[in-house]
Amino acid sequence: TRRAVVVGTGHYLPERVVENAEFEATLDTSDEWIRTRSGIERRHFAAEGETTSDMAAKAAERALADAGLTADDVDAIVVATSTPDLTFPSAATMVQSKLGMTKGFAFDVQAVCAGFVYALSNASALIASGQASRVMVIGAETFSRIMDWTDRGTCVLFGDGAGALLLEAQEQPGTNKDRGILATDLNSDGRYKDLLYVDGGVSTQSTGHLRMQGNQVFRHAVEKLASTANTALDRAGLSASDVDWIVPHQANIRIIQGTAKKMGLSMDNVVVTVQDHGNTSAASIPLALSVGKERGQIKEGDLIVTEAIGGGLAWGAVVLRW
Ligand code: ACO
Repeated sequence: TRRAVVVGTGHYLPERVVENAEFEATLDTSDEWIRTRSGIERRHFAAEGETTSDMAAKAAERALADAGLTADDVDAIVVATSTPDLTFPSAATMVQSKLGMTKGFAFDVQAVCAGFVYALSNASALIASGQASRVMVIGAETFSRIMDWTDRGTCVLFGDGAGALLLEAQEQPGTNKDRGILATDLNSDGRYKDLLYVDGGVSTQSTGHLRMQGNQVFRHAVEKLASTANTALDRAGLSASDVDWIVPHQANIRIIQGTAKKMGLSMDNVVVTVQDHGNTSAASIPLALSVGKERGQIKEGDLIVTEAIGGGLAWGAVVLRW
């Protein structure tokens, strides 16, 4: 069986770190509220002029270095983002040119916070079909550009950054002990648009700001995340007890804890970065995978389930062996 195996990881976080306390100067909020309600302590914000494709390219360069490969070795780039530099071309083609890559193909995937799970699923299918042999899958966001800085219910929760995984086609025996992506599960339900959206866009001739009914999103999150993770595991012929690491979308520590509990797993089996990154939307899972590997948590052979939910609502999970 032709599997998509992770052979390199990298991430990039912008230099500017903003601690919770900084928001106390301009908003009726506190470090204490933000920490206890969300688990977030700090986040990074992109510098003026620093774009999603800049950060994505840096994360990709680090993933290439980690794999000991160069841009010439890559067939395709998939960028998961809701905050591309321009309406078009895609951020992915901008990354392609920044890496000095003149062959292959590149495109963006937009599924908000579930974007990286959707992108991984697409990349795995491109590899399985033979269309590509090495795919750089990147999640990159500059959510700081769509914040309403007067809305304490949203602007304290998000951050900027990028993470990248390099996937390579490898022939594996075809069992659930294989390395690589073993199963995926994708879902969306457009009836929930009003729970989380940006009130602007190209066809409405505005940029807009993020609007969220946080407590409503929260209600959907734990149940849908545990369910999609279990569905993907089941599809791979595995169960929660086989999982070494849950690498969840990092939106809120209480959602992360609730999902682990619902799956019957301990927080010792969860990679957590939300305290340092905030919610970086499609970038949060590849950031957590890259940081988790750097910390020595994630090791070759580990069974990982990633899961995410966000605007749409869109949600999903990917099961892979590292
Ligand atoms: N500081 C102080 N008080 C605040 C703040 C703040 N920053 N933000 C909201 N509050 C207040 C509210 O106004 C409300 O006050 P009220 O009771 O007087 O009306 C009170 O705190 C409670 O508000 P809730 O929204 O009910 O608080 P909750 O415990 O649900 O926490 C949070 C809010 C952190 C947003 C939580 O609901 C959450 O994390 N939701 C999920 C977010 C998420 O996962 N989004 C999906 C991914 S994002 C994407 O796809 C782009």
